[in-house]
Parts: sequence; structure tokens; C-alpha cells
Amino acid sequence: MKTLTIRRPDDWHLHLRDGAMLEAVLPATSTHFARAIVMPNLVPPVVTTADARAYRDRILKAVPRGHDFTPLMTLYLTEATRADDVEAGFRDGVVTAVKLYPAGATTNSQSGVRDITKVQPVLERMAAIGMPLCVHGEVTDPAIDIFDREAVFIERVLEPLRRSIPELRVVMEHITTKEGVAYARSGGGNLGATITTHHLIINRNAILAGGIRPHYYCLPVAKREVHRLALREAATSGDKRFFLGTDSAPHLDPLKECACGCAGVFCAPNTLSCLAHVFEEENALDRLEAFISLNGPAFYRLPPNEARITLKRQEEPVAYPKSLVMRAGPVTIFDPMHPIHWNVCEEAI
Ligand code: DOR
Ligand code: ZN
Repeated sequence: MKTLTIRRPDDWHLHLRDGAMLEAVLPATSTHFARAIVMPNLVPPVVTTADARAYRDRILKAVPRGHDFTPLMTLYLTEATRADDVEAGFRDGVVTAVKLYPAGATTNSQSGVRDITKVQPVLERMAAIGMPLCVHGEVTDPAIDIFDREAVFIERVLEPLRRSIPELRVVMEHITTKEGVAYARSGGGNLGATITTHHLIINRNAILAGGIRPHYYCLPVAKREVHRLALREAATSGDKRFFLGTDSAPHLDPLKECACGCAGVFCAPNTLSCLAHVFEEENALDRLEAFISLNGPAFYRLPPNEARITLKRQEEPVAYPKSLVMRAGPVTIFDPMHPIHWNVCEEAI
């Protein structure tokens, strides 16, 4: 197959940042994606419906003319979040989901949740109104090895939480392990999981073997090869519970290339080309549309997009820039470390 025309995709986990960074990175997403679940971990975070409305306006202002893009907003759950505000935001269509960051788990998560029992009333309200909870699934206990933090989170936090509120609709964000895949599979219609593009391509060797490569460092950190293979199997299976969340997370290069570098991979610009490559390798191009354009809307109870995109396979490798250059400095784009032959072409309705 040399061309593939599918419904326009959505990104169910994206960091758009703010200000100049927002303006610089948004077009990479809005060129190809119709909608994205926008992460709320700004400084300060997006905690109220009023914050989300204001952030959504700033995003809409930054959408280039001619692009059709709808940001789906999330609220950053804190121990002070009010259930009434969450419900009002959801009912008004301003807020699509709430994001749970365990305090200290990742970039700008200091205001996250330390004691999950404190947010129980908000979670119960969300369950009652059918509002999804997006979960960064890693424990922060320093005694737990960083490579085990996802599996331990499932056992210690996620399973007890879902037992106590079975109607709560939960998205396991950016799963990185075979345990994450198995747990997502064990759930019914109330459980979904996003998978990033880069976790389908790299394992932890990319970060650590032959020198430290900070542009492959993100959280949750990439794991062993066996886990990457489990993620590939899940993403390409067509199973409705798995859908794309790129977790594209831009940082200026100097903030990654230093003694205590930030976590995040900026993969938005070439993500669809990389995914077509992965699905072709797995002999599953016929299931790419399910992963990037159908399963996510089905979970979020939204219609799939009507517009189409066409991916074309070309003989010559696609030439992607190494970085996006902003006035403040460059932002390195994810390098899949092998040639990619798939290109995204004109869009047709
Ligand atoms: O690698 C990551 N970067 N993981 C996250 O959870 C946050 C993100 C960011 O905001 O930079
Ligand atoms: Zn993220």
C-alpha cells in the first residue's frame, strides 16, 4: 500500500505550553490534528474553569489562519479543587477532563495530589456526570525504582481507586509497560489508555546506551524492550481501549541539555509519519485509523472527525528539520533514529 486515506486524527494528550512557546509549537499539531486534550501543567497550573476558559482563548488565538483545531481543555486536580466548579466547566463544554498528577511525579506537578482521599468528593462527582479522569500513573515514593513506578501505581493507587468508584471513567495516560497494557485490557468500557509515539519506537537504551541522550528522556521514562513490544502489540491491535496521546512536550534545548534536564519529548511535527512507519512494520496499517482517529473519540463520547488526511509512502526518506527554532532557542524534534518514508499529504473532506 503506497497511500492511506483515513479520518483526521486527534491527539489525546498534548502539552501546548503558553506564550511564545505556544505560538511556536501549536501549528505542528493543528496542521494534522483536529482536536487535542491539552495538559494543564502550566506555571501556575490550570486549576479552575475560569483558568481553562482563559487558556483556551489564548490557544484559539494562536491557531494559524486556515487551520481547523479544537483544544479540549483539562483541569489540574489539586486537593483544593471544587466539585461544583469542575461540574460547571464540564456542563458548559469548557472542560473535557480532569488531570491527576501525583505531587512531584513530573514537570510542574508540585501542586498535584498528595493524599488521594482528599479528592474523593471531586472524583465521585466526576463519576456521576461521566467526566473522564486522565491519570499520570506513577508513584512518587523515592523507595520505588523509577522503572517500577508505573506498575506500583497500578497496584497501590489505581486499582483501589477504581474499586472504590467503579463508575469513574479513567484514562491511563502514556502507558509504558506490559503491566499497564494488561491492566488496561482488564478494564471494561470505563478504562482507556493512551500510548505515545516515542514509546512505540524507543526503549531505555536510547536514553542511556553509548552516552546520555536527553532528548529521549521523558516521564514515564522509556522501559525495557519487552515493554516496548507490549505497547506495539496493544497500539496495533485495534482494541478500542488504546488510543494515541503523543505527550509531545517541548522544552528549550538548554533546559534539557544540562546537569538536571527536563523530561519531555517534542514529537508533534513528525508523529504521524513515525506512526505510519510503526504500523507498517507491524503489518497493521489497516488499524492505524482505529488508533489515531476512532478509539479516542469513542472513549471521550465525541464523534470522529469527518475530514480526511492522506499518508503517502515515498521512496526517498522524508527530510524533517532537526529542531524548531524559536527566538529563545531551538527545541529538538524527536529523531526516530531510522529513516521514515511516510509523509502526510493534502487534506480532503
Ligand atoms: O516527559 C514529560 N514531560 N512527562 C510529563 O508527564 C510532563 C511533560 C512536560 O510537561 O514536560
Ligand atoms: Zn504529558
